[in-house]
Amino acid sequence: MRSDAWYAGDDRNAYIHRAWMRRGVPSSAFEGRPQIAIANTASDLTPCNSHLNEVAASVSNGIYEAGGIPLNLPVVSLGETLVRPTAMLWRNMAAMATEEMLRANPIDGVVLLGGCDKTIPSLLMAASSVDLPAVVVPGGPMLTGTFRGVPLGCGTDVWRLSEEQRAGTLSQEDFLKSESATIRSRGHCNTMGTASTMGLLAEALGTVVPGTAGTPAPDSRLLEAAHNTGRLAVEMVAADRRPSTFLTKASFSNAIVALAAIGGSTNAVVHLLAIAGRLGIDLTLDDFDRIGSRVPLLVDLAPAGRFLMEDLHRAGGLLAVLREVQDLLDPAALTVTGKPLVDYLSPAAIWDAEVIRPRAEPLLDEGGIAVLRGNLAPSGAVIKPAAASAHLLQHRGQAVVFDSIEDFHARVDDPDLPVDATSVLVLRGCGPKGYPGMPEVANLPLPKKLLELGIRDVVRICDGRMSGTAYGTVVLHVAPEAAAGGPLALVQDGDWISLDVAARTLNLDVPEDELALRKPSAEAARGYAAPQRGWEKLYVEHVLQADTGADLDFLIGSSGSQVSRESH
Ligand code: FES
Repeated sequence: MRSDAWYAGDDRNAYIHRAWMRRGVPSSAFEGRPQIAIANTASDLTPCNSHLNEVAASVSNGIYEAGGIPLNLPVVSLGETLVRPTAMLWRNMAAMATEEMLRANPIDGVVLLGGCDKTIPSLLMAASSVDLPAVVVPGGPMLTGTFRGVPLGCGTDVWRLSEEQRAGTLSQEDFLKSESATIRSRGHCNTMGTASTMGLLAEALGTVVPGTAGTPAPDSRLLEAAHNTGRLAVEMVAADRRPSTFLTKASFSNAIVALAAIGGSTNAVVHLLAIAGRLGIDLTLDDFDRIGSRVPLLVDLAPAGRFLMEDLHRAGGLLAVLREVQDLLDPAALTVTGKPLVDYLSPAAIWDAEVIRPRAEPLLDEGGIAVLRGNLAPSGAVIKPAAASAHLLQHRGQAVVFDSIEDFHARVDDPDLPVDATSVLVLRGCGPKGYPGMPEVANLPLPKKLLELGIRDVVRICDGRMSGTAYGTVVLHVAPEAAAGGPLALVQDGDWISLDVAARTLNLDVPEDELALRKPSAEAARGYAAPQRGWEKLYVEHVLQADTGADLDFLIGSSGSQVSRESH
């Protein structure tokens, strides 16, 4: 085993390694027993993951029961709601730090514990680059909270409530009262936001024991699954079942089908592209449109729909959804168990056809993500038609441009803002380099003067991302971003912009010769001064654009698990 390079033998180094790790365990702990790390993103500052120490204890029991040695490995944790300036700035750092700690330590396999949005992506990016046997336990969603008898979708209803408060239909006092009801239990957001999406997609990829993802965080079945996953990790080491042996293009194809069928977050696009990049898999932005755009939407979950994650689990969960679209899945794609994903679908059943629609009665015939191109997005942009307003999917309107999110906040409620229901709101300076970190700001709140007219959606275009818990006719991930010299930097107030989702086009209707004369202002090209030190400097100098997953250029691919040199 890999850990033998630390523990086997009678020399001084082996003595040192064993002596420091004895901690009361017998010498047999170092004799042929797999050393399994539990990469744990539990943190009090990541409330969505704060229960993962309990999950880790169950994983640990399973590892020990199967003959392995469990080793708790706290890794960088990212809490979506607290971390500044945006958790996405730190996803690649978390992935790099985890990758290096897995490589640096005497471990033979790893169980990955994540939950909040960036944690499962960063863990999977890391494990893919190290390529040791690895399996995920998604931390699971919180239970449904209610306020005045109405279920609250965490993350989604705060947008609705705050817009109602801004529109004057909800008092400030009532708005604040709802605060204590919105997070009912431990666990991540209970809408089909990014955390829910990535937990389910980790299973669709084959990196989770089938049937586990989506189990609510407080549900005792999560601990049972965690225990069994610990056992499986030991088996995976014996079988040398590494990510490169079961994660293939077919796995990503299945994840894209699942993403559409569940109506998952647009953020999954950048995360799946980044994970694939670590594995050397040729996944492109266009694959999302080609494979997923015509997959029916079957799951009726907020933000676009009615139900929440607890309902999805009760209704049959991911496997029941995948059974409905089994003909679209690649039967060759394997899972952590060594068996194909499709082998787990026959016992699955829909227990509530309001939450999970049968294939014959989809919520939408086409639930996937559409990829747009044109002179405003030469490298692509994405839109989630299922979360958009049907009447805006083909639209031509005049731009109202904001150079940064601060510029937007300063002017959005100006009574003189030249905006009406036909306007196209453009926000730039929010891409990977521009913000930096590509924050979730693309779902701009509407100007007050539009809200007061009863308007709830207009076309919005941004080089940033959108929260998976948000909705609206939002074109996002525009690439190249303004700060990387993309044409978004050239748009001026009053320019006509044409969006045609059916034709997959996004164009700035300004003659090429006029565009050639325009120069982006420094502020338009980058909303804030270039970082001078630390991670932000490294990030801005090396981050790639959204269309390839916004990873750092030097982190693409794999380093493997071998670290041959040692010096004390
Ligand atoms: Fe953690 Fe939403 S804040 S998943």
